[in-house]
Amino acid sequence: MLQSMHEKFEKLFNEAADVSAFAPGRINLIGEHTDYNGGYVFPAAIELGTYGLASRREDEQIQLYSNNFESQGIVSFSLDELVFDASHDWANYPKGVIKYLSEQFKTINHGFNILIEGNIPNGASLSSSASIELLTGWLIKALFDLDLERLELIKIGQRVENHFMGVNSGIMDQFIIGLGKAEKAILLDTATLEYQYVPAKFGDYVISIMNTNKRRSLTESKYNERRAECESALAQLQQTLDIVTLGDLTPEQFETHKHLIKDDIERRRAKHAVLENERTKLAYTALSENDFVQFGALLNASHASLKDDYEVTGVELDTLAETAQQVEGVLGARMTGAGFAGCAIALVHKNNIPQLEETVSRIYTERIGYAPSFYHVGISDGVKSL
Ligand code: GLA
Repeated sequence: MLQSMHEKFEKLFNEAADVSAFAPGRINLIGEHTDYNGGYVFPAAIELGTYGLASRREDEQIQLYSNNFESQGIVSFSLDELVFDASHDWANYPKGVIKYLSEQFKTINHGFNILIEGNIPNGASLSSSASIELLTGWLIKALFDLDLERLELIKIGQRVENHFMGVNSGIMDQFIIGLGKAEKAILLDTATLEYQYVPAKFGDYVISIMNTNKRRSLTESKYNERRAECESALAQLQQTLDIVTLGDLTPEQFETHKHLIKDDIERRRAKHAVLENERTKLAYTALSENDFVQFGALLNASHASLKDDYEVTGVELDTLAETAQQVEGVLGARMTGAGFAGCAIALVHKNNIPQLEETVSRIYTERIGYAPSFYHVGISDGVKSL
């Protein structure tokens, strides 16, 4: 892909690229919708991702082009025009990163050209947007030789989501894309940002990624709604309890105090956040002990909770996960990412992959009317220069 990108770069911008980089996408093994509730998450970066090339310019123009959105053409703006523009579509992600970086680093005083191309399927909940954010930041860091730590870049990516794009997302996606390592997942405590690398090795089992291929709609607004429901539940608990986040509660403490949350829906949202946090810690222990059966059971319980209590699945994700759970050789399956559409993952014995794909494809297509897709990819490093 890089070779053809270099040729395209020269055609588009009449010069060669100075720097190149790759940023992965991600899956989350377990710990869903816990990252804005002070809980644990357990994501891994994947080999699907976004590639980018960049060159410096003498003037103050910034020119962005994506091979994935060719009809958009070259998106062009100057260093003093770094405001959200709906007509710039995908290019708002890099634009947000450029805005915050150039506010922080005065040495970013001239423009540049960027070409990107990704192989993360669009809207698949595999974090193509965080991948573009971190990729852009990394290219600019390389172009201007910025003294910028990975964690700072991660926080800038989250800031772009929260304040430039208007999605109140947590830090999980940017964190794993910024700090991921090949063949490792990260167990991250989102309350403290303490983290550890955990070998993502499942013996004879592999992670299969299953895409609903459903068009995303309203994901952002429903996501923000869930976050607000959790904040409201937390505020009610805080009238009596000395806690900072829902992640501070054990399942037992939640049981004792859940009556403080007046609204049934908000109580169920909080229940998910507390129990999912507990499941994530248990999943870490199970994986450390090579107890894949227990790990799989926790994946199933996570999906059920996201379906019944958090209500972020939908018939497409339920069909994928619940059908997969019934296939021989599958130890567990669940949706991954924000939900509503996108992907589910299954922990499947390597000999049963064809059976999984055949059964899930058949039942999903019968019920939903179009086919799902499957990916088997390795666990990748975080963002890096090429
Ligand atoms: C999206 C957000 C993350 C996280 C997940 C759900 O991917 O960007 O911060 O909240 O949803 O776990």
